[in-house]
Amino acid sequence: MATRNDIVRVAAVGDIHVSRSAQPRLQNLFAQVAERADVLVLCGDLCDYGLPEEAHILAKEISNLKIPVVGVLGNHDFESGQTEEVTKILCAAGIQMLDGDAVEIKGIGFAGAKGFAGGFGRGALGPWGEEIIKSFVHEAVNEALKLESALARLRTEQKIAVLHYSPIQATVEREPVEIFPFLGSSRLEDPLMHYPVQYVVHGHAHHGTPEGKTANGIPVYNVAMPLMLEIFPDQPPFRLLEIPVTHPAPSEPAMAANR
Ligand SMILES: [Fe+2]
Ligand SMILES: [Fe+2]
Repeated sequence: MATRNDIVRVAAVGDIHVSRSAQPRLQNLFAQVAERADVLVLCGDLCDYGLPEEAHILAKEISNLKIPVVGVLGNHDFESGQTEEVTKILCAAGIQMLDGDAVEIKGIGFAGAKGFAGGFGRGALGPWGEEIIKSFVHEAVNEALKLESALARLRTEQKIAVLHYSPIQATVEREPVEIFPFLGSSRLEDPLMHYPVQYVVHGHAHHGTPEGKTANGIPVYNVAMPLMLEIFPDQPPFRLLEIPVTHPAPSEPAMAANR
């Protein structure tokens, strides 16, 4: 079958924390995205307090952006207990919000979930003792299962996992060590062992480290906007991934039948 090769440019950024006064900053960010990218990925903490009015400000700016947008919620989007309304507003503006879901855009598969906290490696919190500890761990397991079921559904060659919390410790390092357990969970790394992807993007650790790798070598990028601004002050505050995608070439137009 004839094929056509393309490079799809994916801009990923998290923690834009839209507030009432965010409009000029957002316009500037999205203008830079529109110039450089074909797809935008938003890695949670879209709204500062999880308020519908903040979601409306983001929705308005997204509606002017003429490229596909995919995203996950972050913990800040939960702050006011209005995630349903916030999600509805963002979806109406055209953002494909992923919560254990998968979507294919321009030949790339995106699997997304918010993720949760709990810590990394030997320090990860276990489901033992008080009921509330078990519930906390259950939430992390649940988010990992959501990511797994999303990954299992992807059939594309190129895949990106989208999270808010980190699946590895390496990209939260530089934050105070005391808060590592609240910045992510290695339980989110497990599904990536069974269903590898080309890249993982996440946010949440505003003062972490921009790059790391999972145990099976998948590049993990912390794309929290405050981190991008701090580490790469001379660049637009998002990570740009250039993904080679092979499409089937459009078939030849059918020959007109002789009459
Ligand atoms: Fe944040
Ligand atoms: Fe966060």
